[in-house]
Amino acid sequence: MTINDTQEDLLPISQGFQTQPQVLNPVECKVIGKIPNYVQGALYRAGPGTMHVDQVDGKRYETQHWFDGLAQIHRFEIENEKVTYRSRNTATALEEKIRQGESRGNSFAQDVCQVVFSKSSTVMKESRKDDLNPLEMTNVSVVVAVDYPGVQNPDVVTILTDHVKIQNLDWKTLEPQSLYTYEKFNPKFAGVLSAAHPSVDAAKKETWQFTTVFGPRSGYNVFTISDENPEGELVEFVEAPPAYIHSSFITEHYYVLAVPPLYVNGMELMQKHNVAQSLHFDESAGCVFYVFDRAARKHVATYQAPSFFFFHSINSFERDGDLILDVVGYNDGSIVQALYFANLRKKIPYLEKAAPQHTRRYVLSDIASVESPKNILQATFSTLAKGVYPELPRINDSYFAKPYTYYYAINLNDPTAVNAYIANSLSKVNVKTEDYWVWKEEHCLPGEPIFIANPEGTEEDDGVLLSVVLDEAKGASFLLVLDAKTMKEIARAETNSVVPFGFHGAFKA
Ligand SMILES: [Fe+2]
Repeated sequence: MTINDTQEDLLPISQGFQTQPQVLNPVECKVIGKIPNYVQGALYRAGPGTMHVDQVDGKRYETQHWFDGLAQIHRFEIENEKVTYRSRNTATALEEKIRQGESRGNSFAQDVCQVVFSKSSTVMKESRKDDLNPLEMTNVSVVVAVDYPGVQNPDVVTILTDHVKIQNLDWKTLEPQSLYTYEKFNPKFAGVLSAAHPSVDAAKKETWQFTTVFGPRSGYNVFTISDENPEGELVEFVEAPPAYIHSSFITEHYYVLAVPPLYVNGMELMQKHNVAQSLHFDESAGCVFYVFDRAARKHVATYQAPSFFFFHSINSFERDGDLILDVVGYNDGSIVQALYFANLRKKIPYLEKAAPQHTRRYVLSDIASVESPKNILQATFSTLAKGVYPELPRINDSYFAKPYTYYYAINLNDPTAVNAYIANSLSKVNVKTEDYWVWKEEHCLPGEPIFIANPEGTEEDDGVLLSVVLDEAKGASFLLVLDAKTMKEIARAETNSVVPFGFHGAFKA
């Protein structure tokens, strides 16, 4: 698939993929229905908000890939059934540098050959430079974490992405408070890339994470950070080809770094200044699972499965001596190219844009009997609930790293449809029975569903889902509240503005 489309058969550009203004002052939403009393707090969403920048010389800088729109962070506050909405652009200094033609903006996927640089790139006034907030010089827009282990500041929320930059924002105003890398925790954690989704054991307040190292010995620095040990500990360096890895797996006793064979060519990364155009999928290499004993802080086992790609682990747990890893799996890495805006806008079936994704369950069997991590064992896998094409999966967090029954996700109803952008519904999947339920409404494109448990509930799905949904017909987004048991609507809170399609969020009670 090429980046350039044919200019024919394009969908009308979805409002969710266009630049939308920030909403700095909280606006009250119109609530329809009744939000349960236990849903009190703030829902944060992270994603792109600025998809183009008009430069000083009259040219226009167009963001080419969904992952490269400049950050806009959103906050819905729910208090006594009243809902307010605000948002803030948090990469404004980078935006200004692009406007002045001074920066191409290091990116996930921007083709620098196609970016027109301003001839006046060296004439940015010194006074203008002084105005730029150094905390807003980088685009960080993918994952929101509250109470991130090691941060130890309840007044901030933490935003992460697939490179190593981390941004803390004021929990209420969303103003950036700090910008740093994993090296701030510990210089031994140096690297170029990381997973936007660290594996966080909230109960133990411990994070397992890695950074990717390029060089003569490429590989991964695997480390932990915890509230108990905020400087963290380098567990081990694993020598392996650098790959694009967006999440990993954790169970009660183990951490699993899965390296899918969507490899990043380090030389191309240096030349092209972006990840997406430096990726190569190796059909024959397989996906390698490096298993670490959390207590022993040691690489203890290695498994391999046929090549596949994934962004998101769903959940993982231990069962009868086996490790069970549930994941949204793709046959190959074509989804990364499919997420260029040009492809997202194409009026062709999703199937022609990318191999559709499925729920996969990988089993790493009899972990305790493994004698050496040098012996590579075979992992097995099966596909669950084949009628579901999920992404952005979430679970009831109380079941994180434990046996569980349900996950929730955005869902592509019909991969043969010509006008399905990414997802046009929400799904709930029972991973034991493979039953599933769908919420869908015409013209409505939902975002990642976040589960909020009913504190008086006793069942895993006793709670609500919060999803920010764009109603394309109305040209405005609303916060949808679904009963997670029935997948029926309980309430919605309507904004007057478009919340662009983003990635992930978090709820802070
Ligand atoms: Fe993600």
